[in-house]
Amino acid sequence: MSKAKAVRLDKLLANLGYGSRREIQMLARSGRIVFDGAELRKADGRIAMDADLPERMQIDDEPLDPLPGVALMLHKPEGVTCSHKEAGPLIYSLLPERWRRRDPALSTVGRLDKETSGLILLTDDGTLLHRIISPKNHVAKRYVAKLARPLNGNEGDIFASGTLMLEGEDKPLAPAVLDVVDETTARLSVTEGRYHQVRRMFAAVGNHVETLHRDRIGGLTLPDDLAPGEWRIMDQATIAAVFAAPPAA
Ligand code: URA
Repeated sequence: MSKAKAVRLDKLLANLGYGSRREIQMLARSGRIVFDGAELRKADGRIAMDADLPERMQIDDEPLDPLPGVALMLHKPEGVTCSHKEAGPLIYSLLPERWRRRDPALSTVGRLDKETSGLILLTDDGTLLHRIISPKNHVAKRYVAKLARPLNGNEGDIFASGTLMLEGEDKPLAPAVLDVVDETTARLSVTEGRYHQVRRMFAAVGNHVETLHRDRIGGLTLPDDLAPGEWRIMDQATIAAVFAAPPAA
């Protein structure tokens, strides 16, 4: 017998965004919910939330959406905002429309500025989200910054010092690692997530970030085959990679 938690089907589907509980009852009555090959004509029974439920259940011939506890990686393009409610294009509009009605809701793990591109994670799992963003867990985020002016050579030491204070703040930044690519391009790995942190760090050393792209979170690198605007579901191994050491170089 399954050990997975059992929930009422109408509640599960309503929380996945398929409609109100009443609408779910109608879906069932019209034979649009199929489980293990048979139509489920009533939605008030309980169903085990087994991991393979999305493969065993179809709605309108499509596999059921991922169950709660999902994590996604997304290649954020420039120009979209990591917010549920601001004006203009939002990151959530890159996901299927129904997913915006999920409860618990999917949220980004931290934020990237509107003009920053690159790897961002989304999850509805609050524990996972906090494990990734907690500075205690030292999950480094790596950014590639293209700069307006050539580096002058002392930025690496300043960023690594653990004493750099950003304007308007009263606590120095934790040490960060700078890796110079060429005279106006650098990779910067930080373990904190302060407001506009990377842009403000370069401003603090007299430079200006022209473009910013995040290519790594912990040991997880943005895959080459994930184009801007694309996303994919993370399996357990991919989630574990976030907490693993970054690959060498
Ligand atoms: N630092 C920034 O300045 N912007 C981001 O989007 C992320 C880190």
